Amino acid sequence: MGMKEVGIGIIGGGLMGREMASAFARWCALTDVAVKPRLVAVADLVEPVREWFRCIPSCEQLTADYHELLANPAVDVVYVAVPHNLHEKIYLDVLNAGKDLFAEKPFGIDLTAARTIRDAAAKSGRFVRCSSEFPFFPGAQRVMEVAKSGKIGRILQVVSGFHHSSDLDASKPANWKRFSRTCGEIGVLGDLGMHACHIPLRLGWRPSSLFAQLQKGYPQRPDGKGGMTDCDTWDNAMLHCWTEIESQSVPMRLEMKRLAPGETNSWFIEVLGTEGGARYNTKEPKTLWLFEGGKEQFWKKTDLGFGMPFKAVTGGIFEPGFPDIIQQMWAAFLMEREGLLDGRFGCATPDEAVATQEIFAAALESQRDGTVVRL
Ligand SMILES: NC(=O)c1ccc[n+]([C@@H]2O[C@H](COP(=O)([O-])OP(=O)(O)OC[C@H]3O[C@@H](n4cnc5c(N)ncnc54)[C@H](O)[C@@H]3O)[C@@H](O)[C@H]2O)c1
Repeated sequence: MGMKEVGIGIIGGGLMGREMASAFARWCALTDVAVKPRLVAVADLVEPVREWFRCIPSCEQLTADYHELLANPAVDVVYVAVPHNLHEKIYLDVLNAGKDLFAEKPFGIDLTAARTIRDAAAKSGRFVRCSSEFPFFPGAQRVMEVAKSGKIGRILQVVSGFHHSSDLDASKPANWKRFSRTCGEIGVLGDLGMHACHIPLRLGWRPSSLFAQLQKGYPQRPDGKGGMTDCDTWDNAMLHCWTEIESQSVPMRLEMKRLAPGETNSWFIEVLGTEGGARYNTKEPKTLWLFEGGKEQFWKKTDLGFGMPFKAVTGGIFEPGFPDIIQQMWAAFLMEREGLLDGRFGCATPDEAVATQEIFAAALESQRDGTVVRL
């Protein structure tokens, strides 16, 4: 098809590193992109993690030392998916090596790190974006369209969130996400917050003030070696915000939970106005709810198909899933990098990533002092 190939290096081949590799491996699913990722190198400290990437024929470099990957001239773009305490150092090393960067959220362990990375990205002139895939679901795109349509009257409330129950199992051994030193004091905010904040921020709905309710999870978990270890991160966060929409103050709730009973992995957004509104939840991945105001009020429900921002061979009636939105996000990253986004939804920018960290820092302050914090 004569698609331009872009050499990709992955630093951190764990959960997300492998997910990205599999999205590249079925790139033939996309029919209207002019760019093709070619995974050429992977750096991970753990040998069995590196070995998995032998199933990708183009991946010629497997190394424990990411500096070797950064010295590889075949690598144009580096995707980094490592624990949060390593973001700043590795992201800056990527930029200093003259590579473009697709960074995982939360874009540094705290606000200071996020600002340092944003400033270095701007100075470097490299193309830098931050991972946030859920807005690529057709249902999420439709909620954004409704929100921007000007047809739903005065917006009365916004709810955006992400609920897991992954931490409800007290017998699950601790990993780096359970410790402030590796996940950040922001805990669940850093883990799930970008997902809850991305669409509101893209719509221009930055919180002007917020009150946070943060809850911790189990104070101890198995350490995976027969003992127990202390866990100290926030697990649930409810942020009650005010935001300004068309000169009106509007209540906006941002919810991030790793202890949400009954929720396996539910990302959701709801925008309600006086005359209309929309609601989408990945729990029902093809279902879009539309509200119609009037003398009689209606909630209408429809089954969406595969109406992705980037067209695919997948039939229009089929359901989209997590691997699809990951692939769409990469299409957006690579097409925007070529200047070919053409008005489609682009990945989270460094400024948006910093804005999420400003929200998280305000949430920590609100929780600590029990006060409403202005941003
Ligand atoms: N976008 C999403 O939906 C999503 C989902 C989960 C995680 N994440 C983010 O992805 C990042 C990684 O999370 P994960 O769940 O994949 O973690 P993970 O623990 O599964 O994988 C991290 C990998 O990094 C490797 N690593 C650690 N230090 C390294 C170093 N110095 N050099 C090379 N490799 C090193 C580890 O060996 C491990 O394999 C985090 O920023 C997290 O917030 C994003």
